[in-house]
Amino acid sequence: MPLDVPTRDFAAVAATVAPEANRLIAQYPQGQARSALLPILHAFQDVEGWVSPEALAQCAAWIDVPLSVVESTASFYTLFHRKPVGRYMLQPCRNLSCAINGAGPVMKRFREKLGIGHLQTTEDGMFSYEEAECLAACDRAPCMQVNLEFVYDLTVEKVDALVDAMRAGTFDIAPLPQTTAPGHDWHVSQEASKKSPGAQGVSNPNNTGGFGDATGTRMIERLARDPYPVDVRPTSERLVGEGKTRLSAPPSTSEH
Ligand code: FES
Repeated sequence: MPLDVPTRDFAAVAATVAPEANRLIAQYPQGQARSALLPILHAFQDVEGWVSPEALAQCAAWIDVPLSVVESTASFYTLFHRKPVGRYMLQPCRNLSCAINGAGPVMKRFREKLGIGHLQTTEDGMFSYEEAECLAACDRAPCMQVNLEFVYDLTVEKVDALVDAMRAGTFDIAPLPQTTAPGHDWHVSQEASKKSPGAQGVSNPNNTGGFGDATGTRMIERLARDPYPVDVRPTSERLVGEGKTRLSAPPSTSEH
């Protein structure tokens, strides 16, 4: 059963955010209201749980910049949810340090327990799930963010405990507000052409990735195939495959 979501009234949302937006804008010198762009978007997300098209337009009006500036900024940062999401946004890290410390079984357990996959939301609107790139907390791997707050040293048992606590309302990170019922999928597909160079040519970069996904494989293949683009000192680095594949620098051409 979907959760009860109150009828959304954007005028009321904007009226709630306006005092904070005014306070943020006043922190900057006259004529530099645009510097308040990011915190204003966070303020909208704090009230609604996501950043809606109306919120982007309202922000653009308040700081007096073209809507395209606000849209391009919001789409650059994965911290902003640009579609309605669940009460808990779960983002385990899937990158290298977490992978070698057990992120694989952790992500598998999340998928089993929630019954959803990457970039999906549970039927009841309670959980949204994304396997994220490095969260810059590699020293406490495997780690994740819950509603953008960090949870460290994950284990399969910890996954069960934290999801159960969220369902019971006893988890110590507050749920997101929810003014709009989320759909099953929440990726924003128009981003597909704007991904990093490694993801270009991948048919749908929003697809489930994980270890050895198309993006990572493509980058490693390219590194192994192409000559060094710059003159570097001789070195040798292990890339993949238990040390069987090695990339060696071309011999130095300089005379000593
Ligand atoms: S690899 Fe997971 S936080 Fe860096």
